[in-house]
Formats: sequence, structure tokens, C-alpha cells
Amino acid sequence: MTVTIAFDVYGTLIDTHGIVVALSERLGDRASEFSRRWREKQLEYSFRRGLMQNYVDFSVCTRQALDYTNSSFESPLGSQDLEGLMTAYRKLPAFADVEDGLAAARKAGHRLFAFSNGRADSVEALLTNAGILSYFDGVVSVDEMKSFKPNPGVYGHFLRKAQATGSDAWLVSSNPFDVIGAISAGMRAAWVKRSADALFDPWGIEPTLVVRSVAELAGRIGQLRA
Ligand code: 2OP
Repeated sequence: MTVTIAFDVYGTLIDTHGIVVALSERLGDRASEFSRRWREKQLEYSFRRGLMQNYVDFSVCTRQALDYTNSSFESPLGSQDLEGLMTAYRKLPAFADVEDGLAAARKAGHRLFAFSNGRADSVEALLTNAGILSYFDGVVSVDEMKSFKPNPGVYGHFLRKAQATGSDAWLVSSNPFDVIGAISAGMRAAWVKRSADALFDPWGIEPTLVVRSVAELAGRIGQLRA
């Protein structure tokens, strides 16, 4: 049976904290804290808009979260800096383990999709810049559903678009909310726990698999199916 894998993009394939390099020029040692707060606010805005059924393009959540974060740091960044950061956000790097992991998953015969809160054209541009778009059979975006993860409807949308069923489809994500969302919607899910201190939510809903990198994934899925 062919396995279909939906890779989360921001935070799983693509390192959102890669923006620290650009932030450091203006913020020095406050860059990491700024980046963390920006990312948390971006996700919070997507969750709230999903609940409120007040959908906007994910890049609007990103931009509004950037403005909020800048204000919370007492506005060290001017409008040109903010525009520059949004441009840099479209060119973030892939994590170092990703390319080998995608190559191994393809070699194992799996079908690979990118599945993201980001709009499909933004995700395609991001993956092209990171040099990994060619590994994918397709890009599926929540934009077609006008909602965000972890709305169960967006995981159902992925399954329909990929023509897969929950039992042969995996979500692969470093974001615990995404892993829990996919399992609740009937998919299997692997949590990519790159850091030893990363925590999973204590909801009693466990990942099907925990891996330390995307590079480990294909082998571990193969073992489960053997
Ligand atoms: C993504 O969907 C959740 O940001 C994450 O790419």
C-alpha cells in the first residue's frame, strides 16, 4: 500500500527562526526572543481567525503578528525594516535534515505533499527558494477551505485533495497542535522532535511516531508497516 505523507511547512520543513539572522542586524541579542514571540502571535492569530470564521491569507496573520511584536518591543523597527522582514520570511531556509529525509521518503516510494496554512503560491515560492520543491507530488493549502489548522475540515480537505484515506496518510509536523489536530481528524501523525526540550501537549492524544529528524522518518514508517 502506498503511504501518503503531508509535511507541515513552517517550523517543520522550513526553519521560521532562520529569520533571527535578519533580526540580529537591528535587534542584537533580543532577536531570538523577538522571533519566538512573532511566531507564537502568528499562530495565535490563525487559531483565533479560524474560530471566528474570519479568514485572511496566512501572510496577513504573519504581518499583523510582526506589527504586534514590534509594538511589544517598543517599536525598534521602522516600516522599511518591517517590509524587509516580510521579504526575508519568504526566503527562509530548510532545516539541515530535510533534504536527505525527503529523498529517502521518495526512494521508499511514498507520495509526498506539502500541507500548510500558507497559500499554495507562497509555499511553492518558499520551497523553491529552499531548493526542495521538486521532492513533492503537490502542495495543499488550507486557503481552499478558508480556515486554518487544526480545524478538522482542513485535514479532511488534504485527504480529498491527495486522494488518500486516514489510515494510509501521515501528517509530519514539529508543531504538537498540528499532530494532535491530524490524529483527531483520523490521520496518523509523526511528531518531529528536533530538540530534547521540546514538549508535547499533555492531552492524552499521542503521536503515532516520534522522530528526531525528517531524515529518520522513512525508515521508521517502513518499520511500522513491516
Ligand atoms: C504550517 O501550516 C502550521 O505554520 C504551520 O505551515
